[in-house]
Amino acid sequence: MPTESKSLTKLPSILVVGGAGYIGSHMVAYLRRAGFIPVILDNLSTGHQDAILDEKLVIGDITDAAFLDQIFASHHFAAVMHFASVIQVEESVKAPQKYYHNNVMGTLHLLNAMLKWKVNRFIFSSSAAVYGEPLYTPIDENHPVLPLNPYGHSKRMIEQMLEDYAHAYGLQFFSLRYFNAAGADPAGKLAERHEPETHLIPLVLRAAQDKTSITVFGRDYPTVDGTCVRDYIHVLDLCEAHLLALKTLIGGKQGGIYNLGTGQGYSVQQVIEIASCVTQRSISVLEGARRLGDPAILIADPKRAMRKLNWKPHYTELKKMIEDAWAMIRKPISP
Ligand code: UFG
Repeated sequence: MPTESKSLTKLPSILVVGGAGYIGSHMVAYLRRAGFIPVILDNLSTGHQDAILDEKLVIGDITDAAFLDQIFASHHFAAVMHFASVIQVEESVKAPQKYYHNNVMGTLHLLNAMLKWKVNRFIFSSSAAVYGEPLYTPIDENHPVLPLNPYGHSKRMIEQMLEDYAHAYGLQFFSLRYFNAAGADPAGKLAERHEPETHLIPLVLRAAQDKTSITVFGRDYPTVDGTCVRDYIHVLDLCEAHLLALKTLIGGKQGGIYNLGTGQGYSVQQVIEIASCVTQRSISVLEGARRLGDPAILIADPKRAMRKLNWKPHYTELKKMIEDAWAMIRKPISP
């Protein structure tokens, strides 16, 4: 049975699925500042209750259709933002069932509850993983979608569902394909914390903090210094794009599929060097083999979002992203 930490109301609001997670919790704070009323739905499998200030938190799982029905029956949502998914590429190869169950089936239940309760605005966290191995960079939205693993497949399957629901039932949606989310809101409460952590920046900062090592997965890529290049985007810039997408849908305008990145790439080696400079610590590096399925270069062409959403990333310097992430790691978590 679902449990609730706060009472439910009938106020118009935004359902933030996965609102206790890294990007979701930043979005919740951003929505609140923009005058919306976020209601968080999270199963707390990877999210953190301490990331939530005084918003309503409904604890439960999107794979539970009866539970979703109860939530939609007791609220009037203006839109749904969906951040909840399992995200580890390697795990998805070993345990695809988990990815199709949580990501695809959970989202299907969510869309069906929206259909039943006539909520037709949806903003989905998609991923650059839908593109697979890039055929060219920077990657625009017309790049073929050829995911390489069940995680990427699950994101693409959901996008297909969204397109079909839009066609048949008039769903209005944005699918936002993130490149590499990074940083944190210095005024907030949540650093990037996944358990287990697999992402580069938090691992590099953890190595700096704990005086451990970071393993570089491959130095023989055809890049500037042999290490993989990624397009890191500040979490607050992601939030801004979501807010613009929400306002677009509420304004009755059309959604679509958009890349979210800065269009600028940094190598793994550059990340380590900048982190060392930000933390004022030397970071011990181990050399590892290539990680399976890592493309050499992933850089977004974000022009569509810039043109159509009037969005512009503000924190494009990796140093700023790392500084903000480091500040949050160093900040004691208040109860
Ligand atoms: N890396 C290391 N050492 C580590 C961790 C990562 O060298 O300990 C490297 C990776 O090989 C990669 C780069 O750092 O080249 C970035 O790796 P991350 O795991 O931080 O991020 P990814 O680019 O693998 O993943 C991101 C998103 C995924 C999404 C993927 C799309 O976090 O959700 O982009 O390809 F699926």
